[in-house]
Amino acid sequence: MMKETKEATVDLKSVKSPKKTEDYAKYFQAPSLKDAKKRGKEEILVHYDFNIPEDMQHIGKGKRYHVRTYGCQMNEHDSETISGILQAMGYTSSDSVEDADVILFNTCAIRENAEDKVFGELGHMKRLKNNNPNLILGVCGCMSQEEKVVKKILKSYQQVDLIFGTHNIHRLPELLRDAMFSKEMVIEVWSKEGDIVENMPKLREGNTKGWVNIMYGCDKFCTYCIVPYTRGKERSRRPEDVIAEVRDLARQGFKEIMLLGQNVNAYGKDFEDIEYGFGDLMDEVRKIDIPRVRFTTSHPRDFDDHLIEVLAKGGNLVEQIHLPVQSGSTEVLKRMARKYSREHYLELVRKIKDAIPNVSLSTDIIVGFPGETDEQFEDTISMVEEVKYEFAYTFIYSPREGTPAAVMEDNVPMEVKKARLYRLNEVLARIALEQNKKLQDQVVEVLVEGESRTNAEVLAGRTRTNKLVHFTGDKSLIGQYVHIKITDAKTWTLHGELVSKVEV
Ligand code: SAH
Ligand code: SF4
Ligand code: F3S
Repeated sequence: MMKETKEATVDLKSVKSPKKTEDYAKYFQAPSLKDAKKRGKEEILVHYDFNIPEDMQHIGKGKRYHVRTYGCQMNEHDSETISGILQAMGYTSSDSVEDADVILFNTCAIRENAEDKVFGELGHMKRLKNNNPNLILGVCGCMSQEEKVVKKILKSYQQVDLIFGTHNIHRLPELLRDAMFSKEMVIEVWSKEGDIVENMPKLREGNTKGWVNIMYGCDKFCTYCIVPYTRGKERSRRPEDVIAEVRDLARQGFKEIMLLGQNVNAYGKDFEDIEYGFGDLMDEVRKIDIPRVRFTTSHPRDFDDHLIEVLAKGGNLVEQIHLPVQSGSTEVLKRMARKYSREHYLELVRKIKDAIPNVSLSTDIIVGFPGETDEQFEDTISMVEEVKYEFAYTFIYSPREGTPAAVMEDNVPMEVKKARLYRLNEVLARIALEQNKKLQDQVVEVLVEGESRTNAEVLAGRTRTNKLVHFTGDKSLIGQYVHIKITDAKTWTLHGELVSKVEV
């Protein structure tokens, strides 16, 4: 079933900018975190009829765009869609903001410093806007979904022409047109969304590694996290659509696929007509002729035995799992509303390691959650020692307005939080080095991704377990699989010598 138009909770086009932000509510139906929190029972509709209106297919001819992306892979992939839509409107991309006619900031709201960075950069754009009044400066992504951000932009960043959110990327052609012909800031943010839009054009970066969304949104509501508010409720793409996209990328010669979702283990739970979960999807993707398949991110709570069984079959399903733990203390996990205990997590790790003996585990950890005691932090350290993560993203807790944790009492001084982060990273580095040393003199399979960031003479690639490998070789190897003998194992990089090319 398809619906032609979408009702928006907030649909603000060409509205007049209020003189004072207090007038905001009068002028705007604000993007509302409160509305975004609601989870309705509405049917999830899939729209297959995306197209760019005829009068907008050439609007970008002779013009350039620049998209700047912050945040997670989901956002990176959204930027590929945004670029795809802009190219379909005739725009060509520009590496620099200096000669762009359209600049879009695809933003991230996960921590305060992510937001500060965007506001800093937006400030710098004022000069460009003064030089070129026809420049369209837009803000999209997760920050746009927050009312406080929209208010702040209205108050202090009048150089912005357009604000849209995570749920209405498909409206970009119409919104851009509005922004071009309106003297006022164009704002269209939908706080609630239940639909999926298929068939949007995508301009993928390179042709080696491809991202494929399997679901949108998150219903977990961990108490510290803004994502369920900025990305809406969990919605799974139909399996046939996911599989068709993976097959298509395989046909195009892509060498690795990353399946994306905020909580991939919840895949399929929203289907009303079929019993079909993430394990089932992986079992089908396994049969597609693509050498490597990864996924991110897994929530430990919904990681079931069927999935472990399927992953244990190996093949193109790599033996690497990103399994965010956040904390090693059951008490802290409870206050984070993660809905698993330390013991449950360790039991899951044991099951995974039993089924996939050479598995490599990575994680996300937050230190300094409100009220975290020294002892509770020690539980995190012992968790890291026990699981032996090969890699972790570590963060100091950052309060996000509108989330339950933001109003929890926090008696942990910032100095203590910083010291905990430092100590945690030290432990992680020691364990990573220990693990890497085991690869000394071993031959590993590497997908060559490009030149090393620091030395153009050196090539860089990744093992199945996602470890970075540097070696000297011909540039024609970029995009190919090779066997590399590890000669020097460092904490975060392996150095090696080319043994042979691998035919896949
Ligand atoms: N959906 C993913 C996480 C996406 S956000 C998952 O649940 O695994 C990526 C990471 O950012 C989280 O795992 C968490 O470690 C961190 N994070 C999220 N909110 C945060 C906050 N308010 N302060 C600090 N770190 C946060
Ligand atoms: Fe945030 Fe938790 Fe959802 Fe991950 S699972 S996106 S941490 S609410
Ligand atoms: Fe950031 Fe939104 Fe991703 S808040 S981490 S860009 S889902």
